[in-house]
Amino acid sequence: MRKAALEFDVVTLFPGAFAGPLAYGMLGRARRSGVLAVRLHDLRRFGVGPHRQVDDATYGGGGGMVLRPEPFFEAVEWIRERFPARSERVVLLSPQGKRLVHGEAARLAGHERIVLLCGRYEGIDERVREGLADEELSVGDVVVTGGELPALMVIDAVSRFVPGVLGREEAVESDSFSEGGLDFPHYTRPATYRGLDVPEVLLSGDHGAIERWRSERALEATRSKRPDLVATDPRSRAPRRRQRG
Ligand SMILES: C[S@@+](CC[C@H](N)C(=O)[O-])C[C@H]1O[C@@H](n2cnc3c(N)ncnc32)[C@H](O)[C@@H]1O
Repeated sequence: MRKAALEFDVVTLFPGAFAGPLAYGMLGRARRSGVLAVRLHDLRRFGVGPHRQVDDATYGGGGGMVLRPEPFFEAVEWIRERFPARSERVVLLSPQGKRLVHGEAARLAGHERIVLLCGRYEGIDERVREGLADEELSVGDVVVTGGELPALMVIDAVSRFVPGVLGREEAVESDSFSEGGLDFPHYTRPATYRGLDVPEVLLSGDHGAIERWRSERALEATRSKRPDLVATDPRSRAPRRRQRG
């Protein structure tokens, strides 16, 4: 079988948590076709001693358990031995990391392999960040109970940049953030529903007018929902037109 365009190796206490999201839609199809590979590694397999211990009490007291460093180091060494890769990024999922945004996902997609380290409890022993991870990534300024959902978000967001993952009808270039701002609003049938109409211009068949409408509405969405992005949207520098539809 040919080598996947992008490989993910996920180190987690709960490999079973990944089954559903990875089986469906574009990700499921990309995995089945071999464009993407996602390997799940049970942290416990690399646990310490006969009981395969993976966590311990936090030094300094205060309660709560911390994931020990050894299983993470050993898991990554095992992955490197079994699956050599020319370019790799070891990513620690953490609420303290750099935010996962469009540009970060695009950058990560340029690597051959991404190793995702998922924490639980109070988190992972700090030495994993210091001595093993290349970077720390957060999915938002909020704390969730484990790194599995954030890891799935990284897998999904990064995979969309890999050629062959999205269907022809979908393209990252037209989505929100690709041009700096937000996407334009989308409508489908019926043309009228519960007194709500699809804007007339979209039914006009006038492709030039549709393009202008989309560009204006995208900018309007950015201005009203994410004013912080207006400066990065090149459409905001074009002269404003009167709105139709
Ligand atoms: C309960 S959290 C630990 C939070 C940590 N004590 C702190 O306050 O920074 C357990 C694990 O969930 C994951 N996690 C929680 N929130 C996250 C976020 N916003 N982004 C990425 N990973 C997150 C991390 O892997 C983390 O080690």
